[in-house]
Amino acid sequence: VSPTLVDNFGRRHTYLRISLTERCNLRCKYCMPAEGVELSPSDSLLSTDEILQLATVFVANGVDKIRLTGGEPTIRRDFVEICRGLKQLDGLRTLAITTNGLILQRQLPALRDAGVDLLNISLDTLVPAKFELLTRRKGHHKVLQSIERALELGYDPVKVNCVVMRGVNDDEVGDFVELTREQPVNVRFIEFMPFDGNVWDSKKMVPYAELMAAVKTKYPTIARLQDHPTDTAKNFRVEGFRGTVSFITSMTDHFCAGCNRLRLMADGNLKVCLFGPAEVSLRDALRAGATTGGLEDIIGSAVRRKKARHAGMFEIQRTQNRPMIHIGG
Ligand code: GTP
Ligand code: 5AD
Ligand code: SF4
Repeated sequence: VSPTLVDNFGRRHTYLRISLTERCNLRCKYCMPAEGVELSPSDSLLSTDEILQLATVFVANGVDKIRLTGGEPTIRRDFVEICRGLKQLDGLRTLAITTNGLILQRQLPALRDAGVDLLNISLDTLVPAKFELLTRRKGHHKVLQSIERALELGYDPVKVNCVVMRGVNDDEVGDFVELTREQPVNVRFIEFMPFDGNVWDSKKMVPYAELMAAVKTKYPTIARLQDHPTDTAKNFRVEGFRGTVSFITSMTDHFCAGCNRLRLMADGNLKVCLFGPAEVSLRDALRAGATTGGLEDIIGSAVRRKKARHAGMFEIQRTQNRPMIHIGG
């Protein structure tokens, strides 16, 4: 990794998350307000070419994993083309996407051919009526079909992201664990996090310790697996199960010390921390004709301003950030 991507705490930022769009075909309550969010004018969003140019700079400096997020990345018309372009960058090892799975099924063969290595699909409930309540849209069966199809195509594991909310879906935890019995699915229970416009309340968040205790009661043979130091998730397996169960504990046990992530927003702003409001526009620099060296200087200064860790859930809640739909997780 070049010094550009190493921060003052020695963290090496080799994982870039790129948000491709501010739009989504769902309206999940934990992600955006009912009235939606204001969209940036389309000429202020990065073009296909600009995304590839910026990604090239990051990869040349040591990024080896790129994850495409949104909004919902699959609704961008040039999605497959972007995947193909990124996968061809010399030095990129892993191309991943995080999607709600709604229209993924028919794109999957093309995405696999374009070189998408990892699929993370969001699914917060196994009950169709609850899906409609949570996402304010229909389409539960389509998400399930996308997960099925991804498994058929050989994605192993298919990661299923489940944001756990008290009184909403915390009664389904056992059913989610069941998904891992016979299939190479990695179910990831995520603590509900505060973002602008999502009406976060600590009482709605189910802490990792509580969730783990509930899972352990039902599945006493669940055992910890070795994680990678940069993992967002703590990983487990129930004895004899094909898949795995993980917990993403951003709120009650942050994993900032191992952070290797940077974020490029759809409008070209670079964000060095999910919860850090500081942003810098790489789009403006690029459009003003910045050289590669100039872009590297801007990126390096931003990386060196990154804080050691996020400020804690109550402080985060008071800080103006962005709505999750813009950040992409
Ligand atoms: P893998 O690459 O498969 O490990 O996925 P990932 O966890 O990096 O990405 P994904 O998009 O699946 O995100 C899962 C959850 O982790 C979401 O709720 C994200 O908001 C959260 N998450 C991802 N990266 C970070 C991070 O850097 N910090 C924190 N606090 N949460 C993160
Ligand atoms: N808290 C935790 N996770 C969230 N996600 C979206 N909003 C939140 C939130 N408020 C998850 C999505 C997706 C991933 C990118 O982030 O479900 O799987
Ligand atoms: Fe990294 Fe910020 Fe997430 Fe901590 S909160 S892991 S520093 S992005």
